[in-house]
Amino acid sequence: MPLHRPAGPEPSPGRPASAAGRQRPGLRPLPKSPPPTLEKSLQASPTAGPLVDTFGRVARSLRVSVTDRCNYRCVYCMPEEGVPFLPKREILSYEEIVRLVQVMVRLGVCKVRVTGGEPLLRRDVPWFVRALSRVEGLEDISLTTNGYLLDGLANELYDAGLRRLNVSLDTLRRDRYHQINRVDGLQRVLDGLSAAEAAGFNPIKVNTVLMPGLNEDEILDFARLARERPIAVRFIEFMPMDGGSLWSSDKVVSGREVRERICATYPMEPVPDPDPHAPAVAYRFVDGSGEMGFINPMSEPFCMKCDRIRLSAAGEFRTCIFQAQGLDLKEPLRSGASDEELSSLITDAVARKERGGSLDIHDGTYSSPIRLSMSQVGG
Ligand code: GTP
Ligand code: 5AD
Ligand code: SF4
Repeated sequence: MPLHRPAGPEPSPGRPASAAGRQRPGLRPLPKSPPPTLEKSLQASPTAGPLVDTFGRVARSLRVSVTDRCNYRCVYCMPEEGVPFLPKREILSYEEIVRLVQVMVRLGVCKVRVTGGEPLLRRDVPWFVRALSRVEGLEDISLTTNGYLLDGLANELYDAGLRRLNVSLDTLRRDRYHQINRVDGLQRVLDGLSAAEAAGFNPIKVNTVLMPGLNEDEILDFARLARERPIAVRFIEFMPMDGGSLWSSDKVVSGREVRERICATYPMEPVPDPDPHAPAVAYRFVDGSGEMGFINPMSEPFCMKCDRIRLSAAGEFRTCIFQAQGLDLKEPLRSGASDEELSSLITDAVARKERGGSLDIHDGTYSSPIRLSMSQVGG
C-alpha cells in the first residue's frame, strides 16, 4: 500500500491540527514517489503512455469526487427531495483514490480537481489534499465547493497545500439564495470567500449558473464582484445534469449574450494566452480591474479541446461528464488488480472516449436513458 493509515473503516482518528506541516497522529510520512513496483510495472506495460483518444485528445486533468453527498439541493443539480446517496461502503477510501491517482499520474495526468457532491462534507479532506500534494508528478491540485463549510476549513486546506479554489455562488441576494440553492447559506459562503482570501488562496473563482427569470438580473452585480475583489467570476450555462428535474434548452442563458451585456457597461477583452484546455473562455476588464470567465458547454461546446477525465466517489471512471455509465474501477481495485491492470483499464477507456456529450446535445443527437445529477458524476 502506498499510504500508511490506520486500518479500519473510513479514515480518521481525529482531525489534524491546522498548523502547516503537521502530520495526523498515528500516521507515518507519506512516500514521496510511487512504490518501485508501480514504476516497474508501468515501464513494462505495453499500454503505458499518454492517455490519448481517437480524436488525439490527451487526458491530463482528473476530477475526483470524494463524496456524492451534499448539504445543498441546488435547483440546477437535483430535485428538492435530493437524489439517492450511496452507502458508505460503496465510496472509495482516500487510500484507494490516492492509489488510482498515482496510477493515472504515471500515465500522464498532472492536475487533480477535488469535487463532490460537496467535498468539504467528507471527513479529513485536508488530510486527503496533503496526501495528493505528495504524489510525485502531480503539479496542480484544486477544489470546487459550495462554500458552506469553507470558513472553518480554509486555513487547514491552505496548510495542506491547496492553493486553487472554486466556489459556487449563484446569487448575491439572501432570499434568492434560498430559492436557488434551497439552503439559507449566503452569509456563510461570503464568509468562506473572505476566509479563503485571507488564507492566501489564489486564484479564487466563483461559479455562477445563470437561469432565466431566476438570477439573470444579477449579471452586473457579479461583474462588480469580479472588479472589486480578487475573485474571477465565471458564468456557466445550465446543463442537463440536474437529476432530470428542470433542464430544457430554453433555460440556457447563452454566455455570449451575457458577455455582451457586461461589455456594454464594463468593457472586456480576451485574456491573452489562455489555457487551451480550460472550459472557461477568459476575459479581463479593459481597465485592468479583474477577470471573468464564460463556460458555454451548450452554445459553444468545448469537447474537442477536452483534457478531462473523472473518477466518481463510487470509483466509476468517466471520460465525459455526460457519460451515463462509467467504468467501474472499484471492483478490480478491491479484488487485487495490479497497477498494470488498472493502467490498462484506464488507458483503454480513454482510447474509447467518444466525441463528447455537449457536442451531441448541441447537435441534437444526445440520447441518455437517465438524467444524472452533477453531484453523482462530480462537478
Ligand atoms: P479551472 O480552470 O482550473 O478553475 O477549472 P474548471 O474551470 O474546470 O473548474 P470548475 O470545477 O469550477 O468547473 C467549472 C464548471 O465547468 C463545472 O462545474 C462544470 O459545470 C463545467 N465543466 C467542467 N468540466 C466540464 C466538461 O468536461 N464538460 C462540460 N460540459 N462542462 C464542464
Ligand atoms: N449545469 C451547469 N453547472 C452545474 N453545476 C451543477 N449542476 C450544474 C448544471 N446542471 C455546477 C455548479 C457548481 C459545480 C460543481 O457544478 O455551479 O459550481
Ligand atoms: Fe450540491 Fe454542488 Fe449539486 Fe449544489 S451543485 S446540490 S452544491 S453538488
